[in-house]
Amino acid sequence: MITLPHLFENNKKWASEISAANPDFFSGLAAQQSPEYLWIGCSDSRVPANEIVGLLPGELFVHRNIANLVIHTDMNCLSVLQYAVDILKVKHVIVCGHYGCGGVMAAMEDRPHGLVDNWLRHIRDIQQRHGRILECIENEPERIRRLCELNVVEQVINAVNTTIIKDGWKRGQHIVVHGWIYDIADGMLKDLGVSISSPADLSL
Ligand code: CO
Repeated sequence: MITLPHLFENNKKWASEISAANPDFFSGLAAQQSPEYLWIGCSDSRVPANEIVGLLPGELFVHRNIANLVIHTDMNCLSVLQYAVDILKVKHVIVCGHYGCGGVMAAMEDRPHGLVDNWLRHIRDIQQRHGRILECIENEPERIRRLCELNVVEQVINAVNTTIIKDGWKRGQHIVVHGWIYDIADGMLKDLGVSISSPADLSL
């Protein structure tokens, strides 16, 4: 049997360090979780949700997929969103994209990548929808960065257009959906300034 002992060693060290700082940490979390934030981010290994925002276990509910998409028929993402909003009552939903996203870059290419092309088709649609803006950007890396940002904005809109967020607002629940982007080149997060906290924000 092939095992990965170094990862278990890492785990032991990690758990003992946390317990040393706070002996009740894990027993408290075992009883319940009450995160204030839902993170919807990319699966990319260079974008680890908790670490980027300095949050501990229990503080961030997380969903990740290739290119941080919120698709209206994706039961996985929608189930996470529903649980986060209806049960955990998170106050903030953060859609976080990142520059240098392989999913976004693959979507812009003309060569096939297999099954994933069906998923990436959503980004291709965004690229076409914003074709005129993107065509004006002659510098290719800059154009890719812009599409990474536009993808986040579109996913924020998709999130607030779900019945989950709309019903939450109707109930008077306080939910803000944010659009952020992370730069894998320097570790810095940027708020894209597209936060939506009510249906009125969306119609602007
Ligand atoms: Co990515």
